[in-house]
Amino acid sequence: MTEDEIAAIQTSFAAMAPLSLEVARRFYHHLFEKNPQLMSIFHGDLHSQGQKLMDMLDFIVTNIGNPDTLLPAVRELGVRHVGYQVKTEHYEMVGESLIFAMGELLGDAFTEEAEAAWKKAYAFLAEVMIEAANEVIAETEASS
Ligand code: HEM
Repeated sequence: MTEDEIAAIQTSFAAMAPLSLEVARRFYHHLFEKNPQLMSIFHGDLHSQGQKLMDMLDFIVTNIGNPDTLLPAVRELGVRHVGYQVKTEHYEMVGESLIFAMGELLGDAFTEEAEAAWKKAYAFLAEVMIEAANEVIAETEASS
């Protein structure tokens, strides 16, 4: 990520901070409207799940320029998602709904630069999570 992309992500996330639970609410609403089959893999209450999602995004945004801290945490998150029945193809659906919810809430403040930077960052995060998940799945299959 370039310095400008990192700045665009951090500025837009800061603008979202007071609205973060509303971002999460709209994210789930959009996700389940477009992909109702995903409802069955969420079990907890969506308010606290939304809080955890936004806290994790906060951690990611804070550490975006610090891969030594970021990457192990994102890999572990990817491994935990295997246990939540999350599959590779779900990542695109989640990314689309997340960007949609941010754009809906921020309006014009979600600039083209910010949107492009978030798409790039999300694609990278998803790749790291999926890779870590696939390694764990392959190890489990090899030992069974
Ligand atoms: C960058 C992408 C993602 C981030 C930052 C993220 C973040 C989180 C966090 C912080 C949790 C709380 C539990 C934990 O820390 O292990 C969680 C749980 C969960 N996530 Fe994700 N997640 C992402 C992608 C996805 C995708 C693609 C799906 C697929 C639909 C998904 C579905 C779930 C489910 C089902 C749970 C458990 C919730 C429950 O039991 O109610 N997540 N996620």
